[in-house]
Amino acid sequence: MTRIVTGELVTFGVTAEECLHVPNGAVVSGDDGRILWRGARQDLPEAYRAVPVDDFGDCLIMPGFIDAHIHFPQYRMLAAPGKDLLDWLTRFTFPEEARYGDAAYAAAAAEKFLDRLVSHGTTSAMVFSSVHKECASALFAAAARRQMTILTGKTMMDRDVPASVCDSAEAGARESEALYRQWHGKGRLRYVVSPRFAVTSTEAQLKVSGELLKSLPDALMQTHLSESIGEVVRIRSLYPNDTDYTDVYDRFGLLSERSVFAHGIHLSERECQRLSETRSVVAHCPTSNLFLGSGLMSMAHLRQGSRPVRLAIGTDVGGGSSYSMLSTLRAAYEVQMLTGYKPSAFELFHLATRGNASVLRLDEEIGALDAGKWADIAVIDPKATPVLASRQELSETLEDRLFALAILGDDRAIRATYIAGKKMHERKLA
Ligand code: GUN
Ligand code: ZN
Repeated sequence: MTRIVTGELVTFGVTAEECLHVPNGAVVSGDDGRILWRGARQDLPEAYRAVPVDDFGDCLIMPGFIDAHIHFPQYRMLAAPGKDLLDWLTRFTFPEEARYGDAAYAAAAAEKFLDRLVSHGTTSAMVFSSVHKECASALFAAAARRQMTILTGKTMMDRDVPASVCDSAEAGARESEALYRQWHGKGRLRYVVSPRFAVTSTEAQLKVSGELLKSLPDALMQTHLSESIGEVVRIRSLYPNDTDYTDVYDRFGLLSERSVFAHGIHLSERECQRLSETRSVVAHCPTSNLFLGSGLMSMAHLRQGSRPVRLAIGTDVGGGSSYSMLSTLRAAYEVQMLTGYKPSAFELFHLATRGNASVLRLDEEIGALDAGKWADIAVIDPKATPVLASRQELSETLEDRLFALAILGDDRAIRATYIAGKKMHERKLA
């Protein structure tokens, strides 16, 4: 159905000049869910004058958020108090993920998980499923019904985990390839080769992961890298002949421009150089890093001039403590301030929209409100709470209004969410 959404339009670049800002704007989406036109409301082409309008007044109309790293089978286990990453995985995470071998359970959970994303203004995500093929299939099927861009794959782990969440190098490769054939490229879905991390995969499994990444056209790869000190120490004892943690993945062909490494906190100069040379991506997950006490990831260190590492941002729920990309931007700001770097509001919102789209190889499709892209829209009420409303009175610039929103906003600020032009969530006003 053709539809118009109106409000204050904004899309993001790193600097103010690269942003689009139309105070009284309109986005027109077509029957196919893609954007037909966007611009100032007064310039609306004649052909669209009779199209039904959802008018959001003073609300901001922006691209839906993209979460570059989140775990579906952890959707309800936020706030699990582990001592550190490895303790948290063993005590809480693996037992919870074991439930997802049951296809009916996974199917019901997938609906709740996607509802959660949408109610937080997130319209696309790169997601870890569990080790069970039923789990990734359930998520793909639920996302297809919503016409949502979801990138996921079966998690692979074949050592040091309970039998209920363990596969083998051979089964992991076979099931991953079958899932790729079944789902990759169907509508908006993409397959992601997903070895959990080098702690829970044998060398044989990392090897088949590298082979899959090479042989499956357009598939992405996701894993975890250098998140906690305990993990780095474990890697050193498991892989004594590799130079460092990044070198382990490098040896198996896992560094590439299609590879996303979550966290990347404790990286040496050499590791940053290799990640940069291979155009690999590091996903910053600040609420998780704070919650699990993993450390302070320095964006400035990773992006350093001569060997910049490409960055993404994610919630990492359930290690992360919020589904909200606004809360995640706040945590990113706070973590960066502690490392001596002060990100701008434009930079933060860019990361969560166009930046993530670009590193996930989706910038032709999502991340901005341009004609031809999917009409994935977050409608944000910058005065959603009394605290936000009074803070907004002080703002004189768009950047300051966005900054206050990043620091003080959460799901209460999400007035509505559209996916492929269809309203999938609307916040009931009191
Ligand atoms: N490293 C390996 N698995 C995980 C996970 O599920 N969450 C986080 N935060 N780190 C991991
Ligand atoms: Zn993770």
